[in-house]
Amino acid sequence: MGACWSNRIKAVNNSNTGVNSKIVSRDGNNLSVSGSKVSSSSVPQTPRSEGEILQSSNLKNFSFNELRTATRNFRPDSMLGEGGFGSVFKGWIDEHSLIATKPGTGIVIAVKRLNQEGFQGDREWMAEINYLGQLHHPNLVKLIGFCYEDDHRLLVYEFMSRGSMENHLFRRGSHFQPLSWSIRVKVALGAARGLAFLHNAKPQVIYRDFKTSNILLDSNYNAKLSDFGLARDGPTGDKSHVSTRVVGTYGYAAPEYLATGHLTAKSDIYSFGVVLLEMLSARRAIDKNRPSGEHNLVEWAKPYLTNKRRIFRVMDPRLEGQYLLDQAQKAANLALQCLAVEPKFRPNMDEVVTALEQLREPRNMQKSGQKGNTHCHPNSRSTGNPRPSASPLHV
Ligand SMILES: Nc1ncnc2c1ncn2[C@@H]1O[C@H](COP(=O)(O)OP(=O)(O)OP(=O)(O)O)[C@@H](O)[C@H]1O
Ligand SMILES: [Mg+2]
Repeated sequence: MGACWSNRIKAVNNSNTGVNSKIVSRDGNNLSVSGSKVSSSSVPQTPRSEGEILQSSNLKNFSFNELRTATRNFRPDSMLGEGGFGSVFKGWIDEHSLIATKPGTGIVIAVKRLNQEGFQGDREWMAEINYLGQLHHPNLVKLIGFCYEDDHRLLVYEFMSRGSMENHLFRRGSHFQPLSWSIRVKVALGAARGLAFLHNAKPQVIYRDFKTSNILLDSNYNAKLSDFGLARDGPTGDKSHVSTRVVGTYGYAAPEYLATGHLTAKSDIYSFGVVLLEMLSARRAIDKNRPSGEHNLVEWAKPYLTNKRRIFRVMDPRLEGQYLLDQAQKAANLALQCLAVEPKFRPNMDEVVTALEQLREPRNMQKSGQKGNTHCHPNSRSTGNPRPSASPLHV
């Protein structure tokens, strides 16, 4: 990951305080943990108390000691990462009994430990259990259990061996090789399917924190969404939106949501557009280290995306030779639609999934006889638009 860990903060107002900083508005209303979410039609829709949420889920209630053993006392060298919620550690448990085992035996888990401060963390912890305790899909990370003992609040997940998409896009080091075009499309499609599943759930779930650090990858680059701490129920009945305090992450949140607090599934679509753009460009949504005029990825990239011949200015140079011009244009166009200022002009997640599925099938495009069927190498650029050489990449 880039230099942003220590800068990742929770702000208490709507001003942009830094790179990818979290947004939490002032009014302090509790995050709803009352809505019931499941993946099937048999959804209990009555509000649930904390006790009901913890008891009803099929999750293991770990003792703190068990998780201490599983992570070898939260050894610093087993730390997988750190976010606004707390630190994440690698651990081991027996696959069947779920009892802590010796390192290297049983199955690997990721244990997220809440920093013991603040109510926001408690709310997010409970929301995670409420949603992930009931929602199951191949593109959502699996929650195995939790710990709720004295002041300790922990979450236990399946281990995602390739870490987050954010690490792969922006982190330097030999462990993180640049992802190929086809893997990027695969990841985008997996994440889109996860979001589509949430949006189609009854009642609908709005994820509210879609960003590259919340897309985790397994050994085959299957993408799974993690972090449901900010998720909440979508509007029901004839309501067009839910009114909420504004939470999320700067750079990803939809402008109308930031301005009004009116939340709809289209807010997630906007965030998806930002993430797609990050995947195409390997540039961060907000990057204060870039030259002025390039700090905000969406503002900077939009003019290039609308011009077929200038799309290369946005594309990650390390992808050269891997995609067809036609594919780049389609991906850029999809991002542009998701980023429409008017929410009603953004596609829904099913349409996004369909578009990405087509992107994975370049043969369809070749059949279409469009002129963009050549692989894109620097030499094939006859547009006279040089790649922005003054823009270092975060790799
Ligand atoms: N299940 C998991 N398997 C493997 N690594 C994980 C898992 N969950 C989290 N991680 C690692 O821990 C890091 C921190 O995750 P976390 O969700 O706490 O914070 P974040 O998403 O980066 O930031 P934020 O708090 O703003 O959401 C992730 O980026 C990832 O590298
Ligand atoms: Mg996260």
